[in-house]
Amino acid sequence: MLFQYLLSLIITSAITLAAPPKFEGSDLQRQYLVTNLPGLYENIPEDKMPLMFAGQLPLYPENNTNYFFWKFSDNKRTEINHNRTIFWFNGGPGCSSMDGALLEAGPFRINKNEKVVYNEGSWHHAGDVVFVDQPPGTGFSTADRGHYLHELYQVRDYFLEFMKKFFEMFPDEAQNEIYLAGESYAGQYIPYIADGILTHNEKLTGDEKPYDLRAVMIGNGWISPNEQSLSYFPWSYENGLIATTNPRWSSILVKVEKCQEIIDKIDTTWNDTEVHDYEVSSTVCDSILNDILQATSENGKCINMYDFTLRDTYPSCGMNWPKELKYVTPFLGKEEVMHDLNLKILRKWHECTGRAGSEFTARNSVPAVHLLPRLTEKIQVLLFNGDRDIICNTMGTLSFLKKLEWGGQKGFGSKDPEEKFDWVYDDQSRGYIKSARNMTFVNVYNSSHMVPYDVPEVSRSLIDLVTGNYEKNETTYITYPLGFKREADKPTNVTEAAATSSPTTTEAAEDSDEPTTNRITRIIQLLVILVILWGLFVLYSSYRSRPSSIIKKRNVSNSNNGNKKKNVQWADQLHSFEDYLQDSIPGGTSKPGFLTRTFNRLTGAGASDSKGKYVPASSEYIDDIELAEGISDAHIDDDFIIGDEDEEEEEESSRKSPESGLNKTSNNEPK
Ligand SMILES: *[C@@H]1O[C@H](CO)[C@@H](O)[C@H](O)[C@H]1NC(C)=O
Ligand SMILES: *[C@@H]1O[C@H](CO)[C@@H](O)[C@H](O)[C@H]1NC(C)=O
Repeated sequence: MLFQYLLSLIITSAITLAAPPKFEGSDLQRQYLVTNLPGLYENIPEDKMPLMFAGQLPLYPENNTNYFFWKFSDNKRTEINHNRTIFWFNGGPGCSSMDGALLEAGPFRINKNEKVVYNEGSWHHAGDVVFVDQPPGTGFSTADRGHYLHELYQVRDYFLEFMKKFFEMFPDEAQNEIYLAGESYAGQYIPYIADGILTHNEKLTGDEKPYDLRAVMIGNGWISPNEQSLSYFPWSYENGLIATTNPRWSSILVKVEKCQEIIDKIDTTWNDTEVHDYEVSSTVCDSILNDILQATSENGKCINMYDFTLRDTYPSCGMNWPKELKYVTPFLGKEEVMHDLNLKILRKWHECTGRAGSEFTARNSVPAVHLLPRLTEKIQVLLFNGDRDIICNTMGTLSFLKKLEWGGQKGFGSKDPEEKFDWVYDDQSRGYIKSARNMTFVNVYNSSHMVPYDVPEVSRSLIDLVTGNYEKNETTYITYPLGFKREADKPTNVTEAAATSSPTTTEAAEDSDEPTTNRITRIIQLLVILVILWGLFVLYSSYRSRPSSIIKKRNVSNSNNGNKKKNVQWADQLHSFEDYLQDSIPGGTSKPGFLTRTFNRLTGAGASDSKGKYVPASSEYIDDIELAEGISDAHIDDDFIIGDEDEEEEEESSRKSPESGLNKTSNNEPK
């Protein structure tokens, strides 16, 4: 008993002494800190390791409404990134922003071994990026049955509540510049949320501070649904996807004409305050894309509606894309990962959750295009489009912009309506730009519906376009990698800013500033401790014939907290400690050395599991479903049980299609 106590005491102090400076945030932040993920320490270089927080933030605990978020900060604070918060949303409705995090703008991609690998184009180098699953029921976000959302103004109000709670957790960041970014159906969410933030700012009283909202950035946005649906036919024709000889040509043309009539009607009632049914639910306009995909399918294959250069099986037509999705789904399905992400309510992750999408009809919300003019009075509005997308294509976006009036003028208002600027990033032409009166449109070359998926580094530079961090001449906008013009201008640590602006100074950042002598002293201290530790361990082992597991023991002694998560983190600390050791030892190789083996024995790794990481035991799994850390009295409904069959069946009934309409009106429902 005594030895055991001594041993754990020494390990604890060894960790404290040896490990790089510990996380210094608040207790609340600590609950959401992410310290491990499959592949994190193997595949992510230390200097690129982001500081991460994730978890289900309670919005309305009374009905289990929690919004899952995953926040990434660069551990090197620069002039550029130190005071920015970018919220990212995927669309659907009902599709998870983990697409954004793990396939697009986040620091990680998932490889075929279901481990994280680094994405050089990650946006978190340009500001903190927070991926949020919303509305409730989407991805890892939850709500009891009967508490899903239906309207865009609800999305707005819920997100403002989320922001309030989020900045209570990160109070030092509440005055950050805020950017709202996202894709597809987020073209409806984002203008509503931005409008909500501006209204919130206008209504403040006393010493409340406004949110410093700077810009919205919408990628292949579904903003003016009917106008965009009308574009499918001419756009497909222009790009050679459908020919006049197609047997369905004239029947589709009839629909296109009917859709045009609906749009004409909408135009005449544009300024009405009430919402017209013909504007918010037009099955005629909605069905055009599906008709085109059907009419152009051949031998069981059809055009990928998110990238017309690709083909998919009919009737998926893009639902199986991108191919890495098949690694993301099992990755997020791992219990280990759910624990790493601090989930309180475990839930089977789906890219798109049918019910969250189908309940979200937005029948009483005007399409977001109506909100854009007001936004341009206060903030930058950037609409960017991957040029290979069909579903939210460039022609559709340009056609509603042409008619839209903002800043006292219609469209981009130049004498030459075709006027456009070349966009050069890193010395290559990456797209073209049209811009006027705080509204900017960017057509991004060589990219699909998911721009950051295809051209991550280029997409990150879109941020420079809204922050004015570019050079411009008569023909061209020029931006630079990571927003810096020359090699010499590249990241200089803004250590002071980081120290005062946020508690997010990371281990790695501090560690890299550490003088070498200090490091050596530390290693020596460490070695001494290890020798003592080893001696004690041998001594202790000889006292007991059967091997013991420290983790198990801690489990028992902690059982009144019933807090498995802590053990997981503790095991992880040992694991990173081990990595630290290996890194610190000159000439240390990846082959497990003496020290590693020692630690493997201590953690009980080595023997059964060479990864030396948390391996959930199946018997523990049951309580994990109701793991109620923080919300001990949580009512867990069926929804939250892993593998809920309802959800299973509903899976993929809506996708990152701008509107589930495509599927709803289809006879051949994509599955
Ligand atoms: C553009 O936005 C700024 C605020 O960033 C505002 O002061 C200006 O009036 C806006 N311009 C127009 C034409 O609305
Ligand atoms: C990228 O797009 C440009 C403009 O459309 C085109 O000229 C170029 O060939 C494309 N490059 C690739 C690699 O597809």
